[in-house]
Amino acid sequence: MYKIEFAVHSQLDSNFICRMNPIPIRDTEVNVQAIIQLSAGRTDFKEDVGQFYDKWAEHYDQGLENSKYVAPVGGVEELSKRVEDKSALIVDCAAGTGQVGVELAKHGFKNIDAVDLSQKSLDISASKGVYRKLICDSLGKNKIKGVEDGCYDALTCIGAVGVGHISEDAFVEWNRIVKKGGIIVFSAGRVSFENESQEQKDVKNRIRAAIKDLVEKRQWEMLDHKEMDYLFGHSADMFTVRRL
Ligand SMILES: C[S@@+](CC[C@H](N)C(=O)[O-])C[C@H]1O[C@@H](n2cnc3c(N)ncnc32)[C@H](O)[C@@H]1O
Repeated sequence: MYKIEFAVHSQLDSNFICRMNPIPIRDTEVNVQAIIQLSAGRTDFKEDVGQFYDKWAEHYDQGLENSKYVAPVGGVEELSKRVEDKSALIVDCAAGTGQVGVELAKHGFKNIDAVDLSQKSLDISASKGVYRKLICDSLGKNKIKGVEDGCYDALTCIGAVGVGHISEDAFVEWNRIVKKGGIIVFSAGRVSFENESQEQKDVKNRIRAAIKDLVEKRQWEMLDHKEMDYLFGHSADMFTVRRL
């Protein structure tokens, strides 16, 4: 039986993040703090996640560069170990401003679609010229518009499975759109924060249980699960699974 234990992360709070950011950029600090609130399930974060990323889109890349956000590099390295065919059709879920797509293109992948609920982030993605198609839709229980069953050879979802973002509900839809034998790489179990709320703990437990369940039901084969560098020198869990 596959046993899932999320990495135990260092405690991280918003003051720490500001101290760690070597080149403070006002927008970045504000947004990173908001992300902390959102991810920690704090009740004082009221903003709609799509609108939040729409507002951040223009400064997102520069801000995260200063924040040592390396998850897209790590995630794509994992995918490229498993997908040899550079013409494979890949869907980048929660593509945001396209950082994962850019890494995929660096590895020679040519057929990449993007899905995200933030249209402004997708507009930035489009400007990078690495995506074939951009789909503005939410990832959850819903069917992604215009996407046929089993049409993708691989799926990435980096920096988005967790509190306030994408829940385990999306796994069913991932299984619908990825063909049998296809590869799924995603990060989850985001960095931990001081005074983690009960909601955040519950969400992490639900995600962990859903992954375990899919592996036990032989819908996923766990190919790899490791702690990888993520943000501000802290780590998060990276999963690589085969859709069975
Ligand atoms: C931290 S960003 C990560 C973006 C990109 N994958 C990266 O690594 O830079 C999270 C992204 O998830 C998207 N997102 C959050 N919840 C979503 C949902 N339920 N459905 C679709 N996109 C979502 C946001 O719009 C945002 O672009």
